[in-house]
Amino acid sequence: MKTSINLNPTIVVIFGGTGDLNLRKLAPALYNLYSDGFMPEKYAIIGTARKKLSDDDFRNTIMEGVNSFSRSGKVKKEKWDKFAEHVYYTSVDVQAEETFGDLKKNIEKHQQEFGPNTQILYYLAVAPNLFPLIATCLSKYQLAEENTRIVIEKPFGRDLETAKELNNILTSIFTEKQIYRIDHYLGKETVQNIMAFRFANSFLEPLWNRTYIDHVQISVTEQLGVGERGGYYESAGALRDMIQNHLLQLLCLIGMETPVNFDADEIRNKKVDVLKAMRPFSPEDIRFSTVRGQYTKGWVEGKEVPGYRHETGVDPDSNTETFAAIKFFVDNWRWQGIPFYVRTGKRLFQTSSLITIQFKDVPHHIFPSAVSEHWQQNRLIISIQPEMSIRLQVQAKRPGLDMVLNPVDMVFDYKGTYSAQAPEAYETLLLDVMTGDQTQFMRADQVESAWELLMPVVNAWENKKSLSFPNYTADSWGPEDAEALIARDGFHWFTLPLNKD
Ligand code: BG6
Repeated sequence: MKTSINLNPTIVVIFGGTGDLNLRKLAPALYNLYSDGFMPEKYAIIGTARKKLSDDDFRNTIMEGVNSFSRSGKVKKEKWDKFAEHVYYTSVDVQAEETFGDLKKNIEKHQQEFGPNTQILYYLAVAPNLFPLIATCLSKYQLAEENTRIVIEKPFGRDLETAKELNNILTSIFTEKQIYRIDHYLGKETVQNIMAFRFANSFLEPLWNRTYIDHVQISVTEQLGVGERGGYYESAGALRDMIQNHLLQLLCLIGMETPVNFDADEIRNKKVDVLKAMRPFSPEDIRFSTVRGQYTKGWVEGKEVPGYRHETGVDPDSNTETFAAIKFFVDNWRWQGIPFYVRTGKRLFQTSSLITIQFKDVPHHIFPSAVSEHWQQNRLIISIQPEMSIRLQVQAKRPGLDMVLNPVDMVFDYKGTYSAQAPEAYETLLLDVMTGDQTQFMRADQVESAWELLMPVVNAWENKKSLSFPNYTADSWGPEDAEALIARDGFHWFTLPLNKD
């Protein structure tokens, strides 16, 4: 998270230069950073992929990506031309080691021009099985020196063992300070604001514990199905794709103790403490505190959409979950006994990422029940997307001669408060990599602790095929069992009304 900017000359090397991630996210982010004046004075972006392309071909390819996916719309010709002067391409086939020699030449050319302070960032926007190979080749070609940083996309391993193996390979080549394991949720403006909200305001801390909070919900629901990513998704599923990383990181931000300062390691220590305090799953917990689901066909916005088993690249008899709901506990003084309900899924009724903190009820109701027929416990709702807001739901007296209470929202809404557009997560994170700030990146122990916690669930779900799949219709809220999971404790999943703008 930046507080001031002073950037050394930088060479950004993108492996997977012609891939989806670069076209949709990285290239637009770099262009927007440039447009907003956040790129270093001297920089070069080198795209690499197997294809043979000229620099100009590559520039055109990524321009199309920026035009289609940038938050700021189509490129402005003059600005783009200036930006594109810094963009280059080298064909690298990671299976043909010698092509790293060509990359080295290209890097050295810019390094000589930029001077001795030049930093080199490698962004691995490629299939995870290529991570070790690329890191090893960079080392062999002396391209992994002290002035370099490596950015690793998720998934970081498929389980605890493979995550450890990958960490071992990476740390045998780079130091932990050079490794940036990305979780793009941590770059979202509203997610970064959780720390600001919790630790820059004094009124919350006294309430932020088991005495005043009765449960927490973290719900990340998506309307989209797996689309073209069936092949990848088959080997992932909702648990690995979303819960192991994004949702557990959100849980850490809600659950963590107050850091002593804003240092990357101090903050990450506090997050790891949460993961370490989370209650391990017994076989009984897996039966009663977890729910998995898989979507079947349905209708979304007037169009029929296929069930998961009929998506491209998906096994017609697939056991992969497209929905997961889990009840976690954090066994420490602050949170003992307070459930954290987490759910995520594809092809659900609404796209929305919400964190709801429900407070305990008042100790004694002084109002007659007729006065407060809509009584509701206080809730704090942090809406990460698409609405960017924080709502505090409180009881209020409805204006009038009678005493009637109903819940109302006190709202902090980004749209109404700030006129500037929020940067995309990838802009924030790329800038953090350039400035060398690891706060919003996963340390090795963070990734491993998250895997360690989830392994019993991963194994149980993998070893025992679900007999009920598919068990929810596209455009629903997921399997009924997920409603039951939370209803058994007397709660229900909270949602915001659909945003009509
Ligand atoms: C990715 C997952 O990490 O996050 C996708 O692989 C998911 O399956 C995406 O759709 C959600 O991100 P966002 O920013 O759209 O909420």
